[in-house]
Amino acid sequence: MDVPEKGALAGLGLEFVRVTEAAAYAASKMAGKGDQKGADQVAVDAMRNALNALDIAGEIVIGEGERDEAPMLFIGEKVGTGNGPKVDIALDPLEGTTLTAKGAANALAVIAVAEKGGLLNAPDTYMEKIAIGGGYPSGVVDLDTDPAENVRVLAKAKGVAPEEIAACILDRPRHEEMIAKVRSTGARVKLISDGDVAGVINTTDPSTGVDIYMGVGGAPEGVLAAAALRAIGGQMQARLVFRNDDERARADRIGITELDRKYELSELARSDVLFIASGVTDGSLLGGVHLRGGQVHIDTLLLSSAHNEMRWIRGRHPLGVFGD
Ligand code: FBP
Repeated sequence: MDVPEKGALAGLGLEFVRVTEAAAYAASKMAGKGDQKGADQVAVDAMRNALNALDIAGEIVIGEGERDEAPMLFIGEKVGTGNGPKVDIALDPLEGTTLTAKGAANALAVIAVAEKGGLLNAPDTYMEKIAIGGGYPSGVVDLDTDPAENVRVLAKAKGVAPEEIAACILDRPRHEEMIAKVRSTGARVKLISDGDVAGVINTTDPSTGVDIYMGVGGAPEGVLAAAALRAIGGQMQARLVFRNDDERARADRIGITELDRKYELSELARSDVLFIASGVTDGSLLGGVHLRGGQVHIDTLLLSSAHNEMRWIRGRHPLGVFGD
């Protein structure tokens, strides 16, 4: 059953499920092969072919990078047949290229779709992020508050001791101090090697045991995660991080002038959105692609902000449906 969206997104949910399924299937065939770039390339090719078959007038606002560095799915690229609603698209055909190359868990194919202007057009830089699930008072944690204090106030709001809080953080040297501060409260830290879109989304699902996501990861991944949170509830703040003039120039080219602005969730994802992710390898959010009994099994999560809906879709396709 399709999601009964309003406006430009009406009826598009299942169409985009086919797009992430195609990318996930292509990438899954590269799992464990030690070839990050190759895995990314097949996911990009598959996603682009599937997107161009859709009756939409789509524009990539977050993609594989700028035109000169990304031959396909670059920022500004038009996708779809052109006959259909005008939509902005943020995508990451393979969120977890390293995970896929290593045959590790948690790789996804991800897309967010919004009405024109509905997503922050973030440059391909880093982003500082903090996110929690739904059900807390607004503003309970803050990007500019000390990580230990964020854990304490979150614990208080949840009605538990800090020892019962778990923070998800990317395992990177840049986060050493943050990790130490979180641990100083007695809270646990779930370190992930990659994949912070899932890390943020996990805060919305009590069964994952993750209460808060914090740290610096990719800006495109930040906007994708914000789209998911807009659909299912939760809080998020973010700020772009620039390491050099080249990165500042990227922001300038897409019209971002306030470089140190703190973005609220409603500014990262401004309008109704669809968020769709298909599992490439088994993970905390979704199962990966599996071949069973001559069929391809693909798990997809479809989130719709218009109806606060969350659907898990289990696709079973005959071998050959993806053109191989
Ligand atoms: P891939 O490039 O391997 O797909 O990695 C994705 C990712 O782990 C994101 O989830 C995260 O936002 C970003 O990379 C972190 O960047 P870095 O690896 O440079 O710290």
